[in-house]
Amino acid sequence: MNNIVDFFKDCSKKVEVFLDGCLLNSSVFTAGLNEGMRYSVFAGGKRLRPTLVYASYGLFKKDYDVVTPFAAAIEVVHTYSLIHDDLPAMDNDDMRRGKPSNHKAFGEAEAILAGDGLLTKAFEIMSDTSYSPQIPADIRLKAIYKLARAAGDNGMVGGQFADITSEGKKTTVELVDYIHKNKTSALIECAIYLGAVAAEAEEKEIDNLIAFGKNIGLAFQVVDDILDITSSSEVLGKNVNKDMESNKATYPAVYSLEGAKAKADEYIEKAMAHLDIFKERADILKDIAKFITERNS
Ligand code: IPE
Ligand code: IPE
Ligand code: MG
Ligand code: MG
Ligand code: MG
Repeated sequence: MNNIVDFFKDCSKKVEVFLDGCLLNSSVFTAGLNEGMRYSVFAGGKRLRPTLVYASYGLFKKDYDVVTPFAAAIEVVHTYSLIHDDLPAMDNDDMRRGKPSNHKAFGEAEAILAGDGLLTKAFEIMSDTSYSPQIPADIRLKAIYKLARAAGDNGMVGGQFADITSEGKKTTVELVDYIHKNKTSALIECAIYLGAVAAEAEEKEIDNLIAFGKNIGLAFQVVDDILDITSSSEVLGKNVNKDMESNKATYPAVYSLEGAKAKADEYIEKAMAHLDIFKERADILKDIAKFITERNS
């Protein structure tokens, strides 16, 4: 597992150096906007999604820097989703990544715009052919399409809508599955896809990786729900006990805490089965999958 800690560190470093160069202010009138965007991006975070992009790419190729723009793009989409998730109109959380959430630090309108800026920045980065010019245009287009689908109404935004509008209502298995699949798993699956498509993996390989991504994505949100109950804000860097308070549709609400833990393990087991075709080349992805259920933050 030590190996995996170093891998996360290396991937985080690559993506942070790249983003430091991308997130530049261009006008005296937008200094505060740039500050707000950078504030949340550089507040920390596990960098799981970029790390998955690199791990998936690494199954096929070792020139990792090629895929850095894709890894950076997905991290800024994710960071925007966190800024908007914390807004008073959404989860109303005042702490994120161990710091005051974006709207607490900069104001609500400013936080909405910082989120908008980050979402749009992702597509600017993905479509800028001066970054990794060796990526063929058709591959770039496939990657952009996938990220757009995963981020929008057919993915994260759709899941967030179902999450918010179902607060306080009767939770069913179908509802909580829809929410988790879309609000969280869609971007995680997309991260895996971005690495594989950039490496020009074959269709069968991509299909297996997508199935792997879907299942670890579901497990990831189930564990997030569990940690909301069992962990502390010091460890997580965000408020806890919020889901029950807001009557959210979560796995523990449907399956109980123990049942949710069993579900997370089940998803990880399913995910692992899709790595068989890659044999020991997939060791890093397997370690990341294990980390998802064993993590405490
Ligand atoms: C939090 O994601 C939001 C969910 C989708 C559960 P992470 O737990 O990956 O947040 P960071 O990036 O580490 O802050
Ligand atoms: C949010 O899920 C998933 C996103 C799309 C941001 P949560 O609302 O459970 O995430 P946390 O617990 O606030 O990080
Ligand atoms: Mg939420
Ligand atoms: Mg939240
Ligand atoms: Mg949560």
